Amino acid sequence: MFKRSLVTTALPYANGPIHIGHLAGVYIPADIYVRYLRLKHVPVAFIGGSDEHGVPVTIRAKQEGITVQEVVDRYHELIQKSFEEFGISFDVYGRTTSATHHKTASDFFRKLYDENKLIVQETEQFFDEQTQEFLTDRNIKGECPRCHSQGAYGDQCEKCGATLSPEELINPYNANTGNPLTKKRTSHWYLPLDAYQPWLEEWILQDHKEWRPNVYGQCKSWLDTGLKPRAVTRDLSWGIPVPVENAEGKVLYVWFDAPIGYISNTKDLCEQNPAFGKWETWWQDEETRLIHFIGKDNIVFHCIVFPTMLKAHGKFILPDNVPSNEFLNLEGDKLSTSRNWAVWLHEYLVDFPNKQDVLRYVLTANAPETKDNDFTWSDFQARNNNELVAVYGNFVNRTLVLTNKYFDGKVPPLKNLTETDKQVLESLNEIKTSVEALLDDFHFRDAQKVAMNLARVGNKYLTETEPWQLAKTDMERVGTILHVCLQLVANLAIVFEPFLPFSSEKLRKMINLSACEWDDLGKQDILQVGHSLGKVALLFDKIEDAEIAKQLNRLEEIKQANIVQQEQEALKSWQPQPIKAPTDIETFDKIDIRVGKVLKCEKVPKSEKLLRFTIDDGVSERTILSGIAQSYPNCEVLVGKQILFVANFPPRKMMGIESNGMILSVCDADGRLVVTTASEEVKNGTTVG
Ligand code: 2FM
Ligand code: ZN
Repeated sequence: MFKRSLVTTALPYANGPIHIGHLAGVYIPADIYVRYLRLKHVPVAFIGGSDEHGVPVTIRAKQEGITVQEVVDRYHELIQKSFEEFGISFDVYGRTTSATHHKTASDFFRKLYDENKLIVQETEQFFDEQTQEFLTDRNIKGECPRCHSQGAYGDQCEKCGATLSPEELINPYNANTGNPLTKKRTSHWYLPLDAYQPWLEEWILQDHKEWRPNVYGQCKSWLDTGLKPRAVTRDLSWGIPVPVENAEGKVLYVWFDAPIGYISNTKDLCEQNPAFGKWETWWQDEETRLIHFIGKDNIVFHCIVFPTMLKAHGKFILPDNVPSNEFLNLEGDKLSTSRNWAVWLHEYLVDFPNKQDVLRYVLTANAPETKDNDFTWSDFQARNNNELVAVYGNFVNRTLVLTNKYFDGKVPPLKNLTETDKQVLESLNEIKTSVEALLDDFHFRDAQKVAMNLARVGNKYLTETEPWQLAKTDMERVGTILHVCLQLVANLAIVFEPFLPFSSEKLRKMINLSACEWDDLGKQDILQVGHSLGKVALLFDKIEDAEIAKQLNRLEEIKQANIVQQEQEALKSWQPQPIKAPTDIETFDKIDIRVGKVLKCEKVPKSEKLLRFTIDDGVSERTILSGIAQSYPNCEVLVGKQILFVANFPPRKMMGIESNGMILSVCDADGRLVVTTASEEVKNGTTVG
């Protein structure tokens, strides 16, 4: 029923480089899908671009001390280059700061506004009196109400992953200035999602039961909770100005304009390349199939908010599917741009030049299609060495080298097929249907597995038939085996094309196969007898332990740097404890606080926390244990100092040692314990009061 496919990928914020999480979650699956459609000659437009509005880019500008425009220029270029380098074959890669986009998004808003499809609401928002600005969720930081780590954002705690609202933060402050915040009233335009709830329920829950369970489930949960109107404007200076009267200082919310970017970028594509025809055909013709590839944090925007915008506008088609992935973690921890916990694509290529396909392979083999998955460097090495090199590369290399050696690089004839030969050739019969069925259903991981299994079949066949042994006695048999292997190799070049485009191209050159015809997939005679092969080279190389160790060291260094940064965050937002409930002098007088001199101070063996003090208390020597060892790694520095201690606590035994009293310490903002003392030398045993 569909005549063409319009495939979009989430527009990444131009606030930093791209990492493996982006690639695994969105761009590799989308690229595999589009390459597959192109191979099947389905008309397709593959739309990408940078998301250059919103708070993330403004935060980056403040951090780097440059203008927002400089930030988006820098990262748009870097991101676009990374996509090119990894073979993400966009037909257009635009940006939301383009003139086309500003006009398209403004007109879209204006139409909804003119037709009274938006409502106005006044609310209280966090406000920084000193800088006179309203703060968006991402610009507000504070203590996480769940895990109590410092520096949680107003929309999310990066430490424990909790989704938050700024109201929930303990001691919220302006993330850029550290200033405390007040509340101030402001009015905004809202998209009344609640009014579209019945329609969305029918359109998603009834008509799109085929969507991935994670996508369908998330939509259902939003709908079950009940939709509320969503603000589509913000008080910010960076963005697309709200195109109506009395809206100074307000811009379109980034999540309103960004998805419209798909439309704007399609307009630019059609403008630049007439082969794509009219943009309206892609967006307004029911025979176009619209598919959004996104990560799971974008589901609500692509399945609920954007479709509601499109429906409210009235002239657009709606997405037919939204294949969203779950998240990829790195060595067990959530990927994070702000914590630098990532494998950045531009850095990867420095360490692993020309190994784009290795990463593409590993990220697809491990794709977080149904649940969050973990990227580990050891798995990366194992999949490269044990699968790409030992199976696929090895099979191809042995086949081509033997053909060169025994048949002068020409495809030998097929004669007197054995049962094994027939079985191996039959393994080609199903490959096209099976890969197509999986790709049509967005099961990229399993589809790639089917392709790799074909290489396994070939590798096993070659190992078991040992043509290098037969070469001593039966060249005809050797020729048949190599003929079978060569047909498998040609099929591998085709079937891997959407997944590993660089290697497939290399392999096609090696076997002198000029075009990649998907329709040939499964055929047993792609290479004709007598066809000359090209020059043989290794398809993949082994990755050594030292290369992996280097990556792991880098991650360890980042982990340490993050710990230091978190301690600094804690210091920044430190606040004194609230004053305790009133007490009286009698209660205070009951506690006998005295000055004593430290005669000895040593670590208690087998205890991480305890220090053993010998104190001159003015009358005699006493032993006091104190749990401050971690704050004093060189505790001997305390010897000779006068300190304050409580003298009248009953004796207490710890680690077999009797402690008589308590050393008084204060806890600094970073958690370090510091012993207390009188400001001048006094007699030992003097009381405090
Ligand atoms: O989550 C993000 O990175 C957003 N910039 C995605 C936007 S997708 C689309 F709406 F443009
Ligand atoms: Zn938390």
